[in-house]
Amino acid sequence: MSLLREANGPTTVVRREDYAAPAYWIDTVELSFDLDPAKTRVLNKMRLRRNPDVAAQALRLDGEELNLARVLVNGAGCSFKMDGNQLVLENLPEGDAPFDLEIFTTCTPDKNTQLMGLYVSQGTFFTQCEAEGFRRITYFLDRPDVMASYTVTLRADKKRYPVLLSNGNLVEEGTLPDGRHFAKWVDPHKKPCYLFALVAGQLVVREQRITSRSGTNHLLQVYVRPGDMDKTEHAMNSLIASVVWDEARFGLPLDLERFMIVATSDFNMGAMENKGLNIFNTKYVLANSATATDTDFANIESVVGHEYFHNWTGNRITCRDWFQLSLKEGLTVFRDQEFSMDLCAEPSARAVKRIEDVRVLRTAQFPEDAGPMAHPVRPDQYVEINNFYTVTIYEKGAEVVRMMQTLVGRAGFAAGMKLYFARHDGQAVTCDDFAQAMADANPQSDLARLLPQFKRWYSQAGTPHLRAEGVFDTAARSYTLTFTQRCDPSPGQPAKQPFVIPVALGLLDASGTELPLQLAHWNQPEAGTRTFVLTEASETFTFVNVDSEPMPSILRGFSAPVVLEMDYTDVQLLGLLAFDTDSFNRWEAGQRLALRRALHAIKAQGPVPQDPLDAAYLAAMRAVLRHPALDAAFKELVLTLPSETYIAEQLDVVDPQRIHAVREAMREQLAHALHDDWIWAFEAHKDNGAYRPDPLGTGRRALAGLALTMLCLAARSNGNPVWPGKAYQRFKDACNMTDRFNALSALVVSGQALAPDALSRFHSMFRGEALVIDKWFALQAGAPDRGGNVLPTVRQLLAHPDFNLRNPNRARSVIFSYCSANPGGFHRADAAGYVFWSERVIELDGFNPQVAARLARALDRWKKLAEPYRSAAREAIARVAAKPDLSNDVREVVTRSLAD
Ligand code: TRP
Ligand code: ZN
Repeated sequence: MSLLREANGPTTVVRREDYAAPAYWIDTVELSFDLDPAKTRVLNKMRLRRNPDVAAQALRLDGEELNLARVLVNGAGCSFKMDGNQLVLENLPEGDAPFDLEIFTTCTPDKNTQLMGLYVSQGTFFTQCEAEGFRRITYFLDRPDVMASYTVTLRADKKRYPVLLSNGNLVEEGTLPDGRHFAKWVDPHKKPCYLFALVAGQLVVREQRITSRSGTNHLLQVYVRPGDMDKTEHAMNSLIASVVWDEARFGLPLDLERFMIVATSDFNMGAMENKGLNIFNTKYVLANSATATDTDFANIESVVGHEYFHNWTGNRITCRDWFQLSLKEGLTVFRDQEFSMDLCAEPSARAVKRIEDVRVLRTAQFPEDAGPMAHPVRPDQYVEINNFYTVTIYEKGAEVVRMMQTLVGRAGFAAGMKLYFARHDGQAVTCDDFAQAMADANPQSDLARLLPQFKRWYSQAGTPHLRAEGVFDTAARSYTLTFTQRCDPSPGQPAKQPFVIPVALGLLDASGTELPLQLAHWNQPEAGTRTFVLTEASETFTFVNVDSEPMPSILRGFSAPVVLEMDYTDVQLLGLLAFDTDSFNRWEAGQRLALRRALHAIKAQGPVPQDPLDAAYLAAMRAVLRHPALDAAFKELVLTLPSETYIAEQLDVVDPQRIHAVREAMREQLAHALHDDWIWAFEAHKDNGAYRPDPLGTGRRALAGLALTMLCLAARSNGNPVWPGKAYQRFKDACNMTDRFNALSALVVSGQALAPDALSRFHSMFRGEALVIDKWFALQAGAPDRGGNVLPTVRQLLAHPDFNLRNPNRARSVIFSYCSANPGGFHRADAAGYVFWSERVIELDGFNPQVAARLARALDRWKKLAEPYRSAAREAIARVAAKPDLSNDVREVVTRSLAD
């Protein structure tokens, strides 16, 4: 094992309050690489100067797993020492004049299994420098507030590495002796080192020239491995759409002559926004209708957009320190969400996107915010920064930005962005700077008025609970809504102050008509949705001229990332599901009805009830399914039950097996009770026309797929082979991956006898298509557990010739699909799931701590588990924690998990 670790040594905690400006600036960097997988030579010539604002001190450069050969100051040898991983230079020239520092090191890319720094994937060199990977390439001030101009020369064997890429513009290339060649790149923009990138290998490129609104010309390129060219069109189209959108919506143009995307199959995360040279996981680039699903197409569009939008929010304006990570990530997620919504022609498709985003937030971020790894959007401390690329930083961060837009309006938000760039372009700044620009650009807004309190969203962890109570007064013809907010303690934060919570609200009468809203002191009523901005622990609003008890539609569009507690009656929820003009709350009403029934059956004594659903619920679901005006994508969302994870979050004590059994019982009942409706839905939505990954087609395929699953589930108990047969036929005949995979999945999740045959056919059809084989693994590892059958399957999958633990996508497809996405299969009374988990965490940690630490989080919520799961989970975590040479990454996760 090549990782250098202090065995159980002291853990260094990095604190936000300890931020100090760097003692030196690095103005220019000239890097020369002699690329060789076994030994790459890196010559790093920097021009530095002392930071005049900071007391004179030694220069301390970060480095990791480097072999140091030479250090020259102004061309001459000099004294230096090592302090841990840092290279320390004490006797540098006095005064403010710039000086040259030259450092020569070597590293070993083909032994780099962490995929941080310079590594080799399938014979091609790639880099990943965020957050602290650059120090694995050369000694440097590896912190985002040090911004330099880069010139990069790459030298390599011409046959093996014909393509040589780095940031910026290619200024020179040519051949060298011994079959080698070189390329020299100059980046016209200053950047922090985490945005440095190089790529060298055999790649093919799809390119397109575009002209911007303002008339500038640009070359867009998507580089992939030979053979993958036919899967690049969608990524290129998404990139073009991103360029157009950022200029149209925010006036932010592409600032480079050349913009490149390169795909690699070995990548720890989704993608990386290196300046002008984005590096992507193949999963978020490669797609054609035969190999990728609608979900893949949609993910590619948003990840391509996300990385492109970072060019302004992240690269032009970057983070002062890593505590400010959400400055770029929350804002950029918000931007990619808005991008995907703006690409939707129909309002209903926008609502579908919003529902999907909220579903991610509530099933992944809310549990994080309530668990041992809870942290504020702007954390105060970390041990390993890689552990803080979280759903809180990204998704909750995006919700905080969205609330700002709600408070200042869309035009006000655009004005705030403008001021942010006017003030800070080219700088490394903080979350405070962003919020201040938003407020200053909108001086009359609630955001400006409430800014210090609003910023508690950055400093306080935890999900606020907002309780709403409505009282109708017949005599006074008034309706009073009282809101009370609370937020449970988080690690290190025993008490919380009230948040600013924008609540978008409407009232409907019993017949479903939207009522005009009028508070007692208003002169006249206002039609439609109004946003009320809560600031107090408790607040009351009284609406007048209300003739009968209304149905309140609260938190429309999910206007704040809170848990809304409202004791709706079933009648109210059925009314909202039928009539609400707000699509989000219409969907939410259906989810609340289902959740209420799930919780009732889970909490009941005795065996799991066979038919947990009542006639009213089933009739409401039938009405949605058959509704002539609603679109298919929305119907599919309404008819999908809340996930096991989401249900678990509503309980104080979690019995995962009971939750699984109840939800499965609900699904089967829905399958039987709506049998004829599912047949109709399948027949009416199964298209066989040309494939287009647009919202309309996507929605139709999703609903047809759900219908097919329901029909196969029903066939399980009625034994009728017709629908499994039809599913098998569709699996074979499908003309796109979405329909084919949905049919395969219908067979697998309903445990049909035809499933094994379909799986093996699928495997032979797509052998060699790595991303499709990932789906094949994931489907089996995530299948509903029947008598404990999933874990043995998972163990067999690990022994499959196509399995490779070193490839993160493949590891995730089996191990994460089982441990993190299959609660019914994972939480076993015999603890075997947890034993499996601890083995894999330890095994992965031996070569890729980042991926291991993500897996380590699968047991975050162990304290909520019922016995015997709780004790068994604690034991498994303790077993991992007891390992002597854990990475900082895994150690931080398991230590926090076990803390009191
Ligand atoms: N900045 C990247 C993004 O949001 C995230 C990222 C990619 C990353 N690779 C990483 C973060 C490796 C940490 C480590 O798009
Ligand atoms: Zn990002």
